[in-house]
Amino acid sequence: MSVKKRISTINWEKDIYAQGLQLNRWPFSDVVSVVMRAAVGKNHKEISVLEVGCGTGNNIWFLAEEGFNSYGIDISSSAIAHGKRHLAMRGVQAELRVGDISSLPWGDGSFNFVLDRGALTQIDYAHIETVLSEVLRVLKPGGKMFCFTLLGMENPDRLLGSEVSKNTYDRFSGGRFSKVGLTSFFTVQDLHYLFKKFHKVEIHRHVEFNETGSILDETYTVTAEK
Ligand SMILES: C[S@@+](CC[C@H](N)C(=O)[O-])C[C@H]1O[C@@H](n2cnc3c(N)ncnc32)[C@H](O)[C@@H]1O
Repeated sequence: MSVKKRISTINWEKDIYAQGLQLNRWPFSDVVSVVMRAAVGKNHKEISVLEVGCGTGNNIWFLAEEGFNSYGIDISSSAIAHGKRHLAMRGVQAELRVGDISSLPWGDGSFNFVLDRGALTQIDYAHIETVLSEVLRVLKPGGKMFCFTLLGMENPDRLLGSEVSKNTYDRFSGGRFSKVGLTSFFTVQDLHYLFKKFHKVEIHRHVEFNETGSILDETYTVTAEK
């Protein structure tokens, strides 16, 4: 069943990347450690990696420099243009495309690894199952998906937004999500449900507390196999 696309108050292309905001340069440390560990003992040249919602390609250039066949897709043409300039500056090859992660322009069984670092959590919860079925389609049998920074329902800044549909918030009055628009939050049960078609699903919860024991931040990392 197709679900109508919800329009956020904040648009990643127009309001963020085209304004020169959030031009991330460095790969996320969790992406580096998890992918490098998953590839230990393997020839990187034989591993194809796709990042969905790759932004400026800040994880991609690192993977390409490490010899992986690297691919990225993002809805923002400014972010992809920025990422291509960065790849050219470093003299490394990777394929970056503008597109929507709910319809991936690659064939079945194309990738050994698919990464999500902060993109699934920035779309409407109602669309995540569609994206994950696309991820399953493009993964090779036994291929792995790694998701980082899926936001937990107990994140206190969630309450600064309005719930516009199940688990999806927008119009934040302040806090860390006020500049990113549509944001989805998860419980561990939500994640088990969303990844039900994958195998070997591992869910790790990360919580930060302040000195009085209140939660400052709650995120999940998920690894799963086709
Ligand atoms: C929090 S940023 C993460 C960027 C990058 N992965 C990183 O680690 O820095 C979320 C990204 O998801 C992208 N995005 C959001 N919705 C998308 C969609 N439907 N299709 C493709 N990309 C999307 C945004 O343009 C943005 O680059």
